[in-house]
Order: sequence, then C-alpha cells, then structure tokens
Amino acid sequence: MKKTLPLCTVLLFLWTSCTKPEKEAIWFNKAIDVAAYQLEATAEELANSSLLPRSIWTGYNMDFLVRQMEQEPTCFQDSLWPNPPQEKIGQRRLCNIYDWTSGFFPGSLWYAYELTKDEKLKTLAIHYTNLLNPLRYYKDNHDIGFMINCSYGNALRLAPNDTIQSLIVEAAENLCSRFNERIGCIRSWDFGHWNYPVIIDNMMNLELLFKASKLTQKSKYADIAQQHARTTMKNHFRPDYTSYHVVSYNDDGTVESQGTHQGQNDASAWARGQAWAVYGYTVCYHETHDLDFLNEALHIADMIMQRVQTNDSIPYWDYDAPASPETPRDASAAAVTASAFLALSTQSSDGQKYFKYAESILKNLSEKEYLAAKGTNQGYILKHSVGSLPHGSEIDTPLNYADYYYLEALKRYLDMQK
Ligand code: GLY
Repeated sequence: MKKTLPLCTVLLFLWTSCTKPEKEAIWFNKAIDVAAYQLEATAEELANSSLLPRSIWTGYNMDFLVRQMEQEPTCFQDSLWPNPPQEKIGQRRLCNIYDWTSGFFPGSLWYAYELTKDEKLKTLAIHYTNLLNPLRYYKDNHDIGFMINCSYGNALRLAPNDTIQSLIVEAAENLCSRFNERIGCIRSWDFGHWNYPVIIDNMMNLELLFKASKLTQKSKYADIAQQHARTTMKNHFRPDYTSYHVVSYNDDGTVESQGTHQGQNDASAWARGQAWAVYGYTVCYHETHDLDFLNEALHIADMIMQRVQTNDSIPYWDYDAPASPETPRDASAAAVTASAFLALSTQSSDGQKYFKYAESILKNLSEKEYLAAKGTNQGYILKHSVGSLPHGSEIDTPLNYADYYYLEALKRYLDMQK
C-alpha cells in the first residue's frame, strides 16, 4: 500500500523539528502511518461485506468482574451478556449499519484521507459512508447523531454534495422526533426499566442538530440542542462536576432516577461519560457562544485533570474502579478527552493547560503500549479500551470509536501546529 504524507504535513514537521526536539515529528508521523495502513487494510478486506468493524470479541472472568465492580456477584443480576464462544474470542467483531458505532469506521477513513490525501482512502470512505444511507429513515435511538455526523458529517466537509446535505437534515429531523418539550431532552433509549432515559452520551448527538440549523438556516434544530444541553446541565452533574450516566425523567419533567448503566456504580464517574460530557459542552459553546456552556466544559475539564491519576493520563474504565494493575484503561475515553481538550484550548484564556494535557494523551496513545503495530490488532489503530464492563462486554479491546476520536484529535493537533 502506498503511504506517503502530504507535502504540507512533511513541511510542517520539518519546520517543527527545527524548533522542537525531532521526536515531536516522529510520533505524529508514525501514528498517521499506522492509522492509514490499518484502516486501508481493513476496509479492503471487508469491501464486499455490508458489515463494519466495531471491536475484537473478548470474554470475561466472573472473579475479575466482581473485583472491578467491588460489589457482590448479585450486582450483575441479568445484566451480563453471554460470554462469546471460545472460537470467537480474539476475532474481529463486526456490526451492521444500525449499530450505534456504525459511523465511526467511515469517519476514521475520512480523517485518514484528510491527514494523508491518499485518494484510495477517500474512495473507501465514500464506499463505507454510502452503506449508511438507509439510516436517513432511522429513529430508534439517539445515536443517530453519532452515526450520521461522524460519517456523512465528515463527507460533507471533504466531498460535499446536495444529497449529503438533505440526508443530514432528514437525520436531524428524526433525532428531533425524540425530543420531549415538557422534559426538555431527547430520549436516548427505548429499552430498559426507565420511564424516559437520557444518557450523558447524548450530548454527542447535538452536533448534528447544530449542523442542520446551519444548513437550513432554521433555528429549531439548534434550539432543541440547547434545551437538551441545559436540562442535562441541571440534572446530570454532581457538585464536583462528575456526571451520572443515566438520568430518567417522569412525564412531568421531574427526575425519576440518576444512576448508571455502564459505570461501576450509580455514584461513580464512568470514564467515557466524563469524556462525552466535556466534548459535548465544548461543542455547545463553540456553536452558541453561551458562556454557561463554556463554564460547564471548563469545570468538567478541570475535574478530569484532577481525577485521572494514572501515570499516562489514560483513565481506568471508571474513575472509581480500583486503582490496580489489572484494572483496564479506556483509551477511547482518553481519545475523546484529547479531541475535546484541543477544541477547548482555543476557546479559553487558560487554554494552554488543556492543550498540554491533550498533547500528552496523544503522545501516550501513540506509544507501543496503545498504538498497534501495523498488521496486528485485527486492523484497529488503538488497543486497550472498554465498552461495557458491567455487561462483560468489550473489556480491554480496540474500539472503532477510540480510533475515530484519536484521528480527530491528531487532525486538530496538526491544525493547531499551523
Ligand atoms: N454510547 C455508548 C458508549 O459510550 O459506550
């Protein structure tokens, strides 16, 4: 496979390496090189399939889960997903387009294309994005924002056309159909015991709505996004700015419950949830210039820097999980945080500390502990993320969204060097 960096990148880092230690350039270029190789190989391998790469199948050991949860085995009740058959473990786990993660692989291809200008990657990005076309009719959960914005949202930037615009607006309309005026939030899930569940992850779906408002010049999408963000600000956060994972509402808009689904316990700080939160409020401020959103993002960012005490800033899967060598890290939370912090660093007078923190995450993720060697890791870029530990699912494995936000952060980092 041909893998050359575009001239602008090479020049940038020739310049950078004159002013900073040469290894600055090396880690970045290696990361792009590995990412492009892994993505292109995977995309070509799966080109005749309608499925997309999501992670690697993992199993779980009950004693380990109990140690991580620090609760009785009964805490799992019916929540555990069945262990996959032994022959599946270690194999690539694929998903169809209706999976919440379906937008990330096409999105990663778009970022890899943008970073390398390799036309092959663009062709593959278009192919995998087009697979998601039936999602224009999808309304079954809030994840439509992730699915469409990461795929078609990037396509709109890098290969715009009118069809993409109308698909984005259709998807935003479908997402808005899940908004309840009285509650002031978009409903996340249609399963489970909750009356009206809203998860912190839902903050990530708002970017699609802001985009639809810009495309149509209609404020209704952005208005809904802001109402959702305000209600979430009120009910999802504890005084220390850590976030609950799931808040459920009664029909009159009062809070039914505050708890978790993927975290260690109802009061814990699930690592990816904190990352979704800082990213979401950073987007909201960028789109609205409402200082309440900026302040929320800054408070969450400061909390993250204070609470993550690992030696490399890659958090444990939950900040309240035992700080022990066996506790899995979540590279996906770190990648989302790095991308958010780079954006936040340009919006705050105190931005340098967020930039430095993001830079150190990116450098650490680009070390061999986390960055795959070419041709390994079932074609994924990063190792060591966690999907949902309380369900025994995707523990210490690559995840397509860790790769996506890592690439997004690398792209932001490159732009900021310019
Ligand atoms: N949105 C689901 C997750 O972050 O695992």
